[in-house]
Amino acid sequence: MTITYKDSEGIAGMRLAGRLAAELLDYLTPFVKPGVTTNELDRLAEEHTAKVLGAISAPLNYAPGGHHPYPKSICTSINHQVCHGIPNDKPLKKGDIVNIDVTVIKDGWHGDSSRMYMVGEVSVAARRLCHLTYEAMWRGIMQVKDGAYLGDIGHAIQTFAEGHGLSVVREFCGHGIGRHFHEEPQVLHYGKPGTLDQLKAGMTITIEPMLNAGRKEIKELGDGWTIVTKDHSLSAQWEHTVLVTPTGYEVLTQSANSPAVPAFVTAAA
Ligand code: MF3
Ligand code: CO
Ligand code: CO
Repeated sequence: MTITYKDSEGIAGMRLAGRLAAELLDYLTPFVKPGVTTNELDRLAEEHTAKVLGAISAPLNYAPGGHHPYPKSICTSINHQVCHGIPNDKPLKKGDIVNIDVTVIKDGWHGDSSRMYMVGEVSVAARRLCHLTYEAMWRGIMQVKDGAYLGDIGHAIQTFAEGHGLSVVREFCGHGIGRHFHEEPQVLHYGKPGTLDQLKAGMTITIEPMLNAGRKEIKELGDGWTIVTKDHSLSAQWEHTVLVTPTGYEVLTQSANSPAVPAFVTAAA
C-alpha cells in the first residue's frame, strides 16, 4: 500500500470518519465499569456503529496479508495485553486498565482511535502509565507538520517514554490511513530526529504508541491476535488519526467528549 495524499474531498471524508470513531469511544465510555464483559462492549459498539453512525466496523473480519480474520468489531486490551485483545465473556473488574481501539469506515474513509479506560479505582502505577502514554502520544503528534521527519515523531515519543522509565513496543506502529485501514508509511514510536520519510501536507497517519511499565518485549497468544508483554508488566496505548497540514497538524479523531488536550499542547498552539 503506497502513501496517499488527500485532496479537499478526501480531507472532508477523513474528518467525518475520524469524528465518528471518537463519538463511538464517547458512546462506550459510560459502559466501561466493573462487571461489564468485553463482548457486551463489542456488541454495543457494533450496534452503535451501524444504527447510529451509519458506518462499518473495520476490524470485523479484517485479515491483513492472509492473517486469519479478526473475529470482533473492536479490540479490547486489558492490563498486560498490549494490543489486539479479542472481546470475550469475562467481566472487567475494579482496578483493570483497558484499551478500546475502534476503527470505523464512513463513505469509504477510515477513522482509527483508541483510548485507555480505568475500571473503577486503579493502582497509582496503572494510572501513571495511562497518563504518561497519553502524553507520549501528544508529544508525537506535536512533531507533525509538512516537512517534518517520521523519525522526529518516534524520537519525541521514545525519549519521553524512556525518560519516565517506560519502554516502547517495537513490533507495532502507527500507519498511513485513508480508503484503506493500513497504508504507508509506517509510523514508528521510536527513532532518531531527521531520519526516515518526510511528512507532506495531505497525508493522514495514526500515532498510537504502546508503552510498557516493564520491558519492551512482547509475545502473541495462541488465538493468533492478542499481544501481551513477555514479562506480564502493564501496557497502555492511545491512538489518534492525524492530518498533516502545511503548518502543523489537525487531530481528526476528536469529539465533544474526548479527553482534554494536555496543557503543554494548547500552550504551544
Ligand atoms: N486498530 C488497530 C490499529 O490501530 C488495528 C486492529 S487490526 C484488528 O491499527 F484486526 F485487530 F482489528
Ligand atoms: Co491504527
Ligand atoms: Co486502532
